[in-house]
Amino acid sequence: NKTKNLAVIAGDGIGPEVVAEGIKVLQAVAPGAFELTDYDLGAERWKRTGEVLPDSVLDELRQSDGILFGAVGAAPGDKTMPSGILERGLILKIRFAFDHYVNLRPSRLFPGIPTPLADSVIAGKEIDFVVVREGTEGLYVGNGGVVRAGTPAEIATEVSINTAYGVERVVRDAFARASRRRNKITLVHKHNVLVNAGGLWRRIFESVAREYPDVATDYLHVDAATIFLATDPARFDVIVTDNLFGDIITDLAGAVTGGIGLAASGNINPEGRYPSMFEPVHGSAPDIAGKAIADPTATILSVSLLLDHLGLADESARIEKAVLADIAHRSAGTSRSTSEIGDAIASAL
Ligand code: IPM
Ligand code: MN
Repeated sequence: NKTKNLAVIAGDGIGPEVVAEGIKVLQAVAPGAFELTDYDLGAERWKRTGEVLPDSVLDELRQSDGILFGAVGAAPGDKTMPSGILERGLILKIRFAFDHYVNLRPSRLFPGIPTPLADSVIAGKEIDFVVVREGTEGLYVGNGGVVRAGTPAEIATEVSINTAYGVERVVRDAFARASRRRNKITLVHKHNVLVNAGGLWRRIFESVAREYPDVATDYLHVDAATIFLATDPARFDVIVTDNLFGDIITDLAGAVTGGIGLAASGNINPEGRYPSMFEPVHGSAPDIAGKAIADPTATILSVSLLLDHLGLADESARIEKAVLADIAHRSAGTSRSTSEIGDAIASAL
């Protein structure tokens, strides 16, 4: 087996702390399988050099087999870093450049993990679903602008882009996942109001559904979906939705299944034409950076998704199992440092 090249973008804040544990676990489960290259990107780099993501770096990343991403962002009070620079210039630039049209966000309520869900909601239920969030279109493409800026007549637009091509490919991916899971898929949109984009999503969803007679289909408006995520998340298996709805409901999904400290994600180019990027859903959390208290579990589970994507299904499953066992032993009131959690999971491998 050939060594794979993993690009590592640890980023800012707690990013480097959690990524170090992800790598520790990666090296424990697959010793020597990866050659790592660190990329210094994020708020700190921007402040030092004014660079966000130079083309030469993007070209190097393109040569990698996969990317592990921590988190980027300056402290909230830091006014030197304008909102959007890193989001659009780094994260979204990579997602778009590498055609990460499947933003995969699994949510699973592991036994023993505290949740804000009511006991009656979780009793006897298995909560285990994935959101397939479209990653390259929608309101994220930056299609809009401002006219009459700064005047009382200012007009700001962001026009959502939904192409038949883009919707169909992500819907197909989601159906294929559902058919490998529990054969249930829910389209989340808002076609009662967003009639144009919603209509396109619905028609494509229904037509792909005809190729999967064993997959049960459901539809929810996004507002109703938030109710069910809080009152009956066990009803979900695969959810497919657009970029912004997917952003919003996956934060909620993370919150109800143990918090953002556990939520992993993959920005995937399923064809493997470009490297896929794996990252915890959480941000750089400057408020707790440097204190060694960040939970590295979301990053470790992102490493598991990375391995699965690269065909190392066995190693991926072993990490998941080790995390599950570790979580089962976590008890309320005791807290371990970031590296203690990483060590415990790595040594269980
Ligand atoms: C996420 C984040 C990003 C998004 C931001 C930082 C661009 O919130 O990964 O969910 O909106 O997709
Ligand atoms: Mn988000």
